[in-house]
Amino acid sequence: MQDLKQRFETASANGNLSYDEGLELFNEVRLALETGKIRTAEKVSGQWVVNNWVKQAILFGFKIGVLQEVSSNPWDYFDKSTLPVQEINLDKKVRLVPGGSSVRGGSFVAEGTIIMPPSYINIGAYVDEGCMIDSHALVGSCAQLGKNVHLSAASQIGGVLEPIGAMPVIIEDNVFIGGNCGIYEGAIVRQNAVIGTGVIINGATPVFDNTTGNFIKKEQGKPLEIPENAVVIAGSRPMSSGFGKDAGIHVYCPVIIKYRDDKTGKSITLEDLLR
Ligand SMILES: CC(C)(COP(=O)(O)OP(=O)(O)OC[C@H]1O[C@@H](n2cnc3c(N)ncnc32)[C@H](O)[C@@H]1OP(=O)(O)O)[C@@H](O)C(=O)NCCC(=O)NCCS
Repeated sequence: MQDLKQRFETASANGNLSYDEGLELFNEVRLALETGKIRTAEKVSGQWVVNNWVKQAILFGFKIGVLQEVSSNPWDYFDKSTLPVQEINLDKKVRLVPGGSSVRGGSFVAEGTIIMPPSYINIGAYVDEGCMIDSHALVGSCAQLGKNVHLSAASQIGGVLEPIGAMPVIIEDNVFIGGNCGIYEGAIVRQNAVIGTGVIINGATPVFDNTTGNFIKKEQGKPLEIPENAVVIAGSRPMSSGFGKDAGIHVYCPVIIKYRDDKTGKSITLEDLLR
């Protein structure tokens, strides 16, 4: 893949590519993404790093693409010519349940994943083995989901395509995300964490850890991290300044109520029969 990176960097620096040359190169990038050979972000020596060139290549695909009709009965769609509908067949061992989901070209879905309708998996996303993507769920652009992640109904994993160097949202192995949650702006949810129903987290959200009495906040230049095994529920805290403080206004505040224990395991036990 080093070769593809080099060819992309040389071609984009030269700037004189014809549409056909650009399309050919982008198709290679798209297929490498769809087969999981390249990723927008990956763990290197325990640290998540963004592959800037892959994100650049995705943006390049948008830039050179022109609007075209994508025929798909019973409706027609219109999207960039560089992003055809991804071909999924039985060999992929993915259950794409009928009823209106979309796995966009340039995203990777590993075997054993179940996608309930309607769901959307956007370009650059990586969904590892055994995930459940429930109804009305979004796996936004470049989001990285580890093995056996359970993304419950109506939960949204935000897309982070721009700026180029920005960390996408990362959900590590065995994380359970309850219904109606939203994880945005490059937050990292470490392995085995449990995100309770209705928890919303973005890069600027202070998260209170009730087991230590401390707030977890994003450090300069780093993403917000939910620690592994954390059990997070939706809470609130009084405002600390302004008129809101005097008026007793509370703002939203996710709370780490505890770290995962047997009780949590029982609360989120899933039926193997469904899988
Ligand atoms: C987080 C969750 C898994 C509970 O975890 P748990 O380990 O079983 O938590 P416990 O029952 O031991 O609760 C610990 C404490 O947190 C409180 N608590 C737990 N979940 C809570 C929630 N979602 N909101 C508010 N308080 C909550 C409990 O009341 C308890 O408080 P207490 O110590 O004062 O009595 C559960 O609340 C949850 O959100 N499940 C996801 C459900 C869902 O969305 N499923 C999607 C498919 S339908």
